[in-house]
Amino acid sequence: MTVPAKNKPMNIKHLPKVELHLHLDCGLSYEVVSRLNPAVTREIYQEEFVAPAKCLNLADFLTRAVKGYKLMQTAEALTLVIEDMFRQLAASNLVYAEVRFAPLQHLDGGLTSFEVVDIANKAFERCIHQFKIEARLILCTLRHYSTDQSMETVKLVEQFRGTNVVGFDIAADEAGFPIDPHIAAFKYARENGIFITAHAGEARGAESVWETLEHLRPTRIGHGVRSIEDPLLVNYLIAQNIHLEICPSCNVQINLYNSFTDHPINELYRAGVSLNVNTDAPAIVDTTLNREYQLLVDNFGWTATDFYTCNVNAVKAAFISAELKEKLLQKLGEQFSLPNAL
Ligand code: ADE
Ligand code: ZN
Repeated sequence: MTVPAKNKPMNIKHLPKVELHLHLDCGLSYEVVSRLNPAVTREIYQEEFVAPAKCLNLADFLTRAVKGYKLMQTAEALTLVIEDMFRQLAASNLVYAEVRFAPLQHLDGGLTSFEVVDIANKAFERCIHQFKIEARLILCTLRHYSTDQSMETVKLVEQFRGTNVVGFDIAADEAGFPIDPHIAAFKYARENGIFITAHAGEARGAESVWETLEHLRPTRIGHGVRSIEDPLLVNYLIAQNIHLEICPSCNVQINLYNSFTDHPINELYRAGVSLNVNTDAPAIVDTTLNREYQLLVDNFGWTATDFYTCNVNAVKAAFISAELKEKLLQKLGEQFSLPNAL
């Protein structure tokens, strides 16, 4: 496989990309929002669906997420939002994406949780072919959910085994709610061979990552950036090959770091932690994956080789078969060598 040459100028838009951490309900474009609710003007969208450049904390940031999922309560709305998401993936030249959402947030219109996942899975199947982008779904439980709600969510992943639904996650306010009620659902996931990731080390520090690794035992951590506060933990992540799904601008916005330059992604990467670059919530953060890449070039001098390495690591950590990993690795190798990417 060809590895890109170092330090050549690059065309970020054309770089093939892999995204593993992307919330469906936090990525609604103005176009889809105004279609679902024509009363929403651009000004209202900016005010209600996009967060300010600096939020007080994660909980403040998450108040914007409510607007998105409230609009996604019917089969038609869910499908339109998924098509909208694929258009955005195409604009950043994604070759593979894992998109997550919490199905139990979509029951207000009378759909059952099974119907919600079925609709999303079928829309994914159509879009994967239409847009020629490989993509899979991760189902999230939420920190403030009960044990029963977490169990219902993990059992949905099991029921959809063999479809585009491939993994289980816990999201929402890490600082406000403990993981204890969710340990049983993650045990169930492990016992049933379900891939696991978990948000941690974002609103709380390294101790939260340790706790998550011990009790939920994920192979990947959503964010995990505050692992940098504990060198033993950084070594542990490297030794155990735990992959970090890093979302730099989102972390700056929730006030973990003053500016992009203060973000530890470069330090974690140089230390040898397996990680990749993600948006988390493109609408709320007001970003794109192209923009995140540009910020890494501008702030840390990242080259095509660095992006190639991160994307290879992302494919290796993806919740897919060895065959599909091989196919994607080949695609990355080919596209990173194309003259229009480098
Ligand atoms: N849901 C959407 N974005 C999130 C984040 N950054 N942390 C936890 N839950 C989220
Ligand atoms: Zn997230």
